[in-house]
Amino acid sequence: MVDQLARLALFPKATRVNDQGHLVIGGCDTVELAAEFGTPLYLFDEQHLRDKCADFVNEFGQRYAGTTVIYACKAFINKAIALLLNEEGLGLDVVSGGELGIARSVGFPPEKVYFHGNNKSADEISMALDWGIGRIVVDNFHELKMLNEIAGEKGCVPEILLRLSPGVDPHTHSYITTGTVDSKFGFPLASGEEAVVSSLALSNLKPVGLHFHLGSLIFEIEPYQQAIELILGFAADMRRKHGFELGELGIGGGFAVQYTLDTPALPVSAYAELIAKSVRHKSQELGIPLPQLVIEPGRSVVAQAGVALYRAGVVKDIPGVRCYVSVDGGMADNIRPALYGAKQEAVVANRMTEKEGREVTIAGKFCESGDILIRDISLPQVEAGDVIAVPGCGAYCLPEAMNYNASFKPAVVMVKDGQARLIRRRETLEDLMRCDVL
Ligand code: LLP
Repeated sequence: MVDQLARLALFPKATRVNDQGHLVIGGCDTVELAAEFGTPLYLFDEQHLRDKCADFVNEFGQRYAGTTVIYACKAFINKAIALLLNEEGLGLDVVSGGELGIARSVGFPPEKVYFHGNNKSADEISMALDWGIGRIVVDNFHELKMLNEIAGEKGCVPEILLRLSPGVDPHTHSYITTGTVDSKFGFPLASGEEAVVSSLALSNLKPVGLHFHLGSLIFEIEPYQQAIELILGFAADMRRKHGFELGELGIGGGFAVQYTLDTPALPVSAYAELIAKSVRHKSQELGIPLPQLVIEPGRSVVAQAGVALYRAGVVKDIPGVRCYVSVDGGMADNIRPALYGAKQEAVVANRMTEKEGREVTIAGKFCESGDILIRDISLPQVEAGDVIAVPGCGAYCLPEAMNYNASFKPAVVMVKDGQARLIRRRETLEDLMRCDVL
């Protein structure tokens, strides 16, 4: 039977247990935080988050000088996080007018922002150009034409990357696989030449590079090498035939994180080592200048920094079948288990030093049988009122949160050195009805 304490490895780095047997994150007693801010509550460990940003900048930077690190906002963004990322020197990958608007609202430097998306609207493109966005990552021919027209009207010449789908399978869940040929994202490699030729011919666009993104939660590194070699080979071909210069190579994000004790992930250094080596070797072999390298990690920056706290309510024991522990959140704040079959772990934050007693299933409170957060996990005896902490909730939980059953999206707190600061308040009934019109 696994000791709860072993699961501390899945929490932010400095997480510990205090004399009362309570889980302590960022120097704050999580049982006290749950009482003060209410539950479900999402915590972000500020130091862990900053260290992760630095990790990407340093591990890639020391192996490939000047690597541009842009954070994929879709993993989780709000004003406080955007400010922190700017302080840490990261750029941003935004995919909507909404994400762009959050970045703009805190004075994020527009030149450090890349605009992605497979169906950008004319309004979004217009907004991005007016703001002076750094790069537009063009996904398809429709966008190429529209962007050229809008840029022409505005009298600007945006720098663009072309997104290619290299046709490499990164062996992850099909919902988060993007770089295969059968994908809604990017120009298939077979249409790549036409995309390059068109973009060179469009007078209001300045093509400066190529981009690919293979998918998310990629535990292997070989797919990156495979895709880099393919895309660089393509770039060399385009240089020879059309004089296309690869100034930048975006290799996407997708780096895995460890959600459960039995699914370890590679350190950032391992991805950095192979990616830097592949770009350098292949460019030399092909005789093309080394491109600027752009990486866009999302999950791997924020996932482990974030922890969800729930309060246990009903404990329903069906003898010989299963014991359900229902908590006060669930699929409305974390749809990942229901949507991707994602596996996560948990601890009872107020019983950290108690022995694990039995196997339970942690269920959410929403009206769906599929609203199960964790199936069959062994925990100390849980009672109503206990605080359940789920690690690995920093990425793709809050941004995919919803108001199912007219629930309120949770509050979010940043913790550091024993201080907790609210970075998003809990929604209220008024928030829920704000858009209703009678
Ligand atoms: N770049 C592009 C173009 C992307 O589409 C994504 C993620 C990233 C970067 C960042 O990937 P990451 O480093 O976070 O793996 N909701 C899903 C994941 C969706 C990923 C969408 N694209 C989940 O919870 O597993």
